[in-house]
Amino acid sequence: MPLVDLDRFDFLYANRVKGMKSAATRDLMATLSRPGIISLAGGFPDTRTFGEEAFREISHNVAADSAQALQYGPTAGLEGIKDIIVDVMASEGTRANQEDVFVTTGAQQGLDLVGKVFLDEGDAVLCEGPTYAGALNAFAAYRPRVLHVPMDRAGMMPNVAREALNKARKQGIHVKFIYTVPNFQNPTGVTLAVQRRRELLEIAREYDLVILEDNPYGMLRFEGEALPTIAALEQETDGGTDRVVYLGTFSKIFAPGVRLGWVHSQPGILHKLNIGKQGADLCSSNLAQMMIYSYFKHADWRGYVRRLTSLYKKRRDAMLDALAEFMPKEVHWTHPEGGLFVWATLPSYVDATSMLPRAISRNVAYVPGEGFYAGDSGKNCMRLNFSFVEPGKIRRGIELLSEVIRERMELRSDMERASQLGGSRSAVGSTER
Ligand SMILES: Cc1ncc(COP(=O)(O)O)c(C=O)c1O
Repeated sequence: MPLVDLDRFDFLYANRVKGMKSAATRDLMATLSRPGIISLAGGFPDTRTFGEEAFREISHNVAADSAQALQYGPTAGLEGIKDIIVDVMASEGTRANQEDVFVTTGAQQGLDLVGKVFLDEGDAVLCEGPTYAGALNAFAAYRPRVLHVPMDRAGMMPNVAREALNKARKQGIHVKFIYTVPNFQNPTGVTLAVQRRRELLEIAREYDLVILEDNPYGMLRFEGEALPTIAALEQETDGGTDRVVYLGTFSKIFAPGVRLGWVHSQPGILHKLNIGKQGADLCSSNLAQMMIYSYFKHADWRGYVRRLTSLYKKRRDAMLDALAEFMPKEVHWTHPEGGLFVWATLPSYVDATSMLPRAISRNVAYVPGEGFYAGDSGKNCMRLNFSFVEPGKIRRGIELLSEVIRERMELRSDMERASQLGGSRSAVGSTER
């Protein structure tokens, strides 16, 4: 068989492709499905919880209108699903208007469309550091600068955001929007404090920016009080929706396999997104929209979300307990009140990317932190997922991982000892000469 030179068409590829990198988890997918591997790497909801019976029922309901399910639909989505989205947003405390809802093929498409509509090459996006790798990937196609704002336990730090915006302004860089995942952020699990949500809104007004609020996890809260979305805060202070573009998804409250999400925004922005989506996929799947409509209209979807949440809480507890039991004291991690992820920070000299093959050889996997930054920060960090693996396996996975980390740390101490020894030998040598 002739050898295929994968880069044979390098001279034909668009420049934009050069800024794009494949998500580490997507690349790892094949390895991670190997039997025996405890994968704390994916971002998978537990779709096993949904059950065959419920699936059969909604399929049966949709079959009654198979002609529409199999047809093209309107670019902005079917009317019925928009009513469902209004209900879903209301249960998180956000008043949505049916006509301000725009259906997308997952929230991921929302990210891409917002990039397409707002970003010219060289524009900037302000976002959390670290941030959702899939957003970096979506934006990268439009070649922006990414300005990461560091986070603490209360999320993105507004004073640093202001500094970054002032600096960008002085340099003539046009920052177009602030991107935030306010609840149980991917990858850190950190939640943006309510006062900071208000401050971000204030900053966006001051600098005349859009806020892209990406909220896939808000309803997966295990403890603590639900916080108002930034979209709801804007409505409260301005009496309507203006600069907040809100992204929602059915991936975490129903299932990611249906690939359905939405944007809630003001009409001018929606019109531009509509044009962008026509060029991308014409419309999202009618079949998926009708399945979701059937389930959310007739079944107890809130009960299902409660079931998922209590399952994830047990798994989060198992992960936090195991981290406390096994990890060296130099390792730190976040304590998410919901969502799917914990973020661990290792000593600065441990490179989580180069450690991954060793971890996989010991049958445990995670996502190295580097992929959640546009630059090369986050090397000593890792994202750990707790939603997909049973508690016993999570415990074992963390135990294995802590062994791999200890090994690295010991290697470093051995090397330090050796170099000290080498140093004192050569000092002795020099006196002997
Ligand atoms: C923060 C964030 N935004 C968007 C997405 C994409 O979600 P969807 O499945 O709706 O495309 C994800 C998926 O994990 C995510 O974590």
